[in-house]
Amino acid sequence: MNEPLKPLIRSLKGERLDTPPIWLMRQAGRYLPEYRKIRAKSSGFLDLCFDSDKATEITMQPINRFDFDAAILFSDILVVPHALGQDLSFLEGEGPILNPVRSVEDLETLSSENLHRHLAPIYQTAKNVSALLPEKTALIGFAGAPWTVAAYMVEGKGSRDYIYAKNWALGAPDQFQKLIKLLVEATSSYLIGQVDAGANVLQIFDTWSGVLPRYAFDRFCVEPTLEIIKLVKAVHPNIPIVAFPRGATAHLPDFVKTSEIDAISIDYSADPVWAAQELQPYVTIQGNLDPVLLIAGGEELIRRTREIVSALSGGPHIFNLGHGILPETPIKHVEQLVSAVRRS
Ligand code: CP3
Repeated sequence: MNEPLKPLIRSLKGERLDTPPIWLMRQAGRYLPEYRKIRAKSSGFLDLCFDSDKATEITMQPINRFDFDAAILFSDILVVPHALGQDLSFLEGEGPILNPVRSVEDLETLSSENLHRHLAPIYQTAKNVSALLPEKTALIGFAGAPWTVAAYMVEGKGSRDYIYAKNWALGAPDQFQKLIKLLVEATSSYLIGQVDAGANVLQIFDTWSGVLPRYAFDRFCVEPTLEIIKLVKAVHPNIPIVAFPRGATAHLPDFVKTSEIDAISIDYSADPVWAAQELQPYVTIQGNLDPVLLIAGGEELIRRTREIVSALSGGPHIFNLGHGILPETPIKHVEQLVSAVRRS
């Protein structure tokens, strides 16, 4: 007999559910006092990602507290460049710092040789978590999309406009493609490793896809993402994959029609009524409450939550935020959000 499917998976397979499953991007993190406690005792964020016992505990924290429909592996998109040999550190209050790669010669300092050995603790976290999760809860594995990861690798840090990365991508696209190709190969193999270890769903974060002109979005965001999906699905044909091309709402109607993607996570700029008409006939929609409303709370939080649930109630929908939960978010508001979604 087949196991009854988890609500998140049913939704990703295209089923409309009376109550949308819910999880929140960045649900394990600094807004949780139990996370801050472990973090304060640790030698740094990256060390936590590579400590399977701690990462398991942190992945489980939001599940234990809010009973979300999915856990997302506690890790970061930048473990891939780290595994390829690029120096990476997270400075308090500054975010990630990498030694930039800015030429084809710089790429020669990177290698996939130790990829799986380096990422083994993350696979171990996936194994641990999948053994602990309740039957109905899905485990989401993830990676950054090649463009977003490349943007950090070239820039060497977070940025508003990614001038160095764009300069390379737009000015010498055939050279930049070599970095993208390296990331497509490493990322697909990393995602396959996560599914082998127990992930039931994958999400590909393309946080900076909105900074590219359309033609470059097609070449450096869409094509590499489709290539990754093809490579992963060749090994795991049934694994549902969610894409999150943030800031690229205008390009989404073409994207959902041409891709093998199971779901699209929409950012908070997208109108859910528009998404229901233009995107939901093709894919499951995930999203898209503005994370700042979760800080604000009150009647507006509940009103806007119900509005999203209702707009997307005619097809498959997974409730989420339009970007990651912010560290200032009160726990109480998260509890109110979860009960509003489950009662509306
Ligand atoms: O969602 C989850 O709970 C799972 C874990 C997760 C983290 N990062 C943990 C994290 C996931 C899925 C990510 C993805 C990620 N990482 C993205 C894509 C999604 C997005 O938010 O746009 C990006 C761009 C990164 C890179 C990154 N990691 C930045 C820019 C920063 C610094 C900014 C910040 O929020 O601190 C991080 C650090 C980071 N990643 C933290 C956590 C919990 C904070 C680390 C700390 O405790 O100081």
